[in-house]
Amino acid sequence: MSSILDVKVMQDYIRMCHDGVGLGWHERNGGNLTYRMREEEADQCRPYFKSEPGPWVELGVQAENLKGEYLIATGSGKFLRNVELAPQDNLCIVELNAAGSAYRIVWGLENGGRPTSELPTHVMNHSVRKRVTDGENRVIYHAHPPYVVALTYVLPLKAEVFTRMLWKSETECCVVFPGGVGVVPWMVPGGSDIARATCALMETYDAAVWAFHGLFVSGPDFDTAFGLMHTIEKASQIASIALAAGGGNTPKQLITDENLRDIGREFGVALNEEILNYREAGTPYC
Ligand code: 13P
Ligand code: ZN
Repeated sequence: MSSILDVKVMQDYIRMCHDGVGLGWHERNGGNLTYRMREEEADQCRPYFKSEPGPWVELGVQAENLKGEYLIATGSGKFLRNVELAPQDNLCIVELNAAGSAYRIVWGLENGGRPTSELPTHVMNHSVRKRVTDGENRVIYHAHPPYVVALTYVLPLKAEVFTRMLWKSETECCVVFPGGVGVVPWMVPGGSDIARATCALMETYDAAVWAFHGLFVSGPDFDTAFGLMHTIEKASQIASIALAAGGGNTPKQLITDENLRDIGREFGVALNEEILNYREAGTPYC
């Protein structure tokens, strides 16, 4: 291999950034992506690392179960539409220290910069998802998909309401995220507070909506994480159109709770019962 860009994991990462841009989820520098590298992937990239890594930088959060791991990350303020043109200027690989509390840049951001401002949230989410998935989870992805954000202006900011709306807006949603999606109220982006609030939800859910801002998803690989973002946004688009056409009221006909149970049975997935049984008078889809 003559370049780090010949390494498959780098190619897959770059393709995901490109695909998110194509779907309109990454205006300007909106959104960010991190990938927790397998040992062999870090080994494949190591020959291209900087001869002198950057200085250690405190994260403001700690993730002990990520000590010594390597993450591929987008740069803060970098536009995802430029990733494909110049990965070495817009991406980086960071190494976490032995306490899981600081990082240093070992590759990329050649014209300067730092990893995404949401790195504390990504690191804490990786920590939680690694633990609850027995090490399977590797991708944390944040984007600004417009329809799911639009719905945070009109529906109660509750996991039960959002999940029921999504499950009932596209037949196979409940198979893609049978556990549901969490909802974080509006918070200042980029700090440790939003990191902690998101992590609390990621104990249970593999996706969390950020009110008036965007969506965070996780997954074991790029396809699964991207597919989760795409499915949630598509269902949100359908719900937005159906709600608008009906003047904001519950659509005239819906996938029923019994229909959802039938799908769960047929596909062998256990739907979150609390969400299936949730009722809120006067709220669409509930
Ligand atoms: P960064 O450019 O720092 O990744 O921030 C983008 C974003 O979407 C913050 O929530
Ligand atoms: Zn954002």
